[in-house]
Amino acid sequence: MYIKESKGFPEDFLWGAASAAYQVEGAYDEDGKGLSSWDAFVKIPGKTFKGTTGDVAVDHYHRYKEDVKLMAYIGLKTYRFSISWSRIFPEGNGKLNEKGLQFYDDLINECIKYKIKPMVTLYHWDMPQSLIDQYGGWESRQSVDDFVNYAKVCFSHYGDRVKHWIIMNEQNVFTSHGWMLGTHPPGKINDLKMFYQVNHHVFMAHAYSVLALKEMYDDALVGSSFAFSPSYALTNKPEDALSKQDYDTLQSYYWMDVYAYGRYPRAALSYLESLNVKIEMEPWDEDILKRSALLIDFMGVNYYQTTTVAYNPPQGVNNLNGENNSGKKGTKAVTGIPGLYMNPSNDFLDKTDWDWAIDPSGLRFACRDITSRYDLPIIISENGLGAFDKIEDGKIHDPYRVDYLREHIKELKKACDEGCRILSYCVWSFTDVLSWLNGYQKRYGLVYVDRDEEENSGTLKRIPKYSYYWYKKVIESNGENL
Ligand code: NOJ
Repeated sequence: MYIKESKGFPEDFLWGAASAAYQVEGAYDEDGKGLSSWDAFVKIPGKTFKGTTGDVAVDHYHRYKEDVKLMAYIGLKTYRFSISWSRIFPEGNGKLNEKGLQFYDDLINECIKYKIKPMVTLYHWDMPQSLIDQYGGWESRQSVDDFVNYAKVCFSHYGDRVKHWIIMNEQNVFTSHGWMLGTHPPGKINDLKMFYQVNHHVFMAHAYSVLALKEMYDDALVGSSFAFSPSYALTNKPEDALSKQDYDTLQSYYWMDVYAYGRYPRAALSYLESLNVKIEMEPWDEDILKRSALLIDFMGVNYYQTTTVAYNPPQGVNNLNGENNSGKKGTKAVTGIPGLYMNPSNDFLDKTDWDWAIDPSGLRFACRDITSRYDLPIIISENGLGAFDKIEDGKIHDPYRVDYLREHIKELKKACDEGCRILSYCVWSFTDVLSWLNGYQKRYGLVYVDRDEEENSGTLKRIPKYSYYWYKKVIESNGENL
C-alpha cells in the first residue's frame, strides 16, 4: 500500500523481550514443583540434542533479579514470561504450592519495580506430568477443567498487577509436534484424530479462561499466541493458488478463526469429514467459543518465517518432518500433505543457520492479513534469530542478529503506518534459552549465557551482546533509531 507519511510506532508501544518457564527457569524439582511433561520427555534417550535438559536451563529461577535488572538497563517496557503450571499445582490439580505462587509474585514485583509491565503466558508447553499419568493430559476433556482452575488461580493471584495475558503459546506447534510429528511430548506420530481432539480441548481451555478473566477484571487484555507462518503460492498456476488456500485453512486459519470468530473454518471441517475424523464436542462448546471470541483483545503472533506452497499430487511428498534434534544446518525437510500441498523452499529468501527462511516482509504480510481478516490489535509476542553465537575476547558480536531485528522492525513500522494496530513487539529471547530439542547451541538471546551444550556446564554468567545495546537505542527512540 502507498504510505504518504510515516507515523511510526504509537507512543505507548510496548518494546519487550520474551522467555518461557521450561526454557529458562531450571530448578525443575525445587520448592515443591512437580514434574512437567518436558521434565520427563527430555530424559528419554535420543529425544534431545546430546540429551540436554532444562533441569538447570539458564537458572532464571535463582537469577531473575539479575535478569530483570539487565532488562531495566535497556528500558524494556514489557517482559513476556510463562508460568509453569506444575510449580503452582505440582499435580496439575488438587494441592496448591505456595512457594511456586511466591516465585511469580517476586518476579512480577521485580518487573514492576523497574516499570516493566509483566506479560504472562499461562501455557508454554509444560503440562504437569501428573495429569498425563492421571488421564492422558490434553487427550482427556478433564484437562479443560484443570487448566481453567489453574488459570483462575493465576488471575486472582496476579491479576491486580498483570494486565496482559497470553493463554496459550503456539497451540499449532505443540499439538502438531506432540501428536503428528512425535518430536514433542507425548511423542505420538500421525495420530490425526487425537491431534484434532486435543486441539479442541485446548481451544475450550483457552475460551473458558478468557471468559473467567473478563469476569474478574475488565481492564485486562487477553489473547493467545499463534505461530504464524504466512504463505506465498510458488507460482501463479491456479492449482498452486488453491493449495495455498488449503495450507492457509489447515495450518493457520484453523487456529486463528477459532480464537477470533469462535468457529472452525468450514473447508477444514469438510476436509476432516473426508478423512473420517470427527471431533467430539459438547453441545454448548460452540457458544462458549463464540463468546470468548468476542472478548479477546489481541491476536498474539510469533513470527519467524513465511512458507511457500505448491500443489502436491496425491502420490507426492508425505514427509511431515519439521525441525529435529540433530542440531545441524539444513535439517528442515519439505513438508506437506499429498493431494493438497507441499512446502518447497523459497529461492528469493536467505536462510538462518537452521534453514529457516529470513523474510522481514512476511511480518508485515502477517499483520496485514490478521488486520483485514479479524480487525484485531496484534501483539508480536516473539520474533528473533536463532544462531551459533561465538564469544570472542569476552564479547558477543552479533551484527547478523541486529540486521535481522532491524529489518523486521522496519516492516512492522510500515504495518503500523498501514493501519495495523500493533501493541507490542517482543524479541525472542531476552537471555539465551534452552532451545527445546537443540540444547544450548541455537541461541536467540540479547544476553548471552555462558553455558555449554552439555547439561550443567558453564558458569551461567550473563554477557550482554552487541544486539542488546542496539535494542536499547531502538527502545529509547521508540523505533526511530534503527
Ligand atoms: C517459538 C516458541 O514459542 C519458543 O519456545 C521457541 O524457542 C522459539 N519458537 C524458537 O524456536
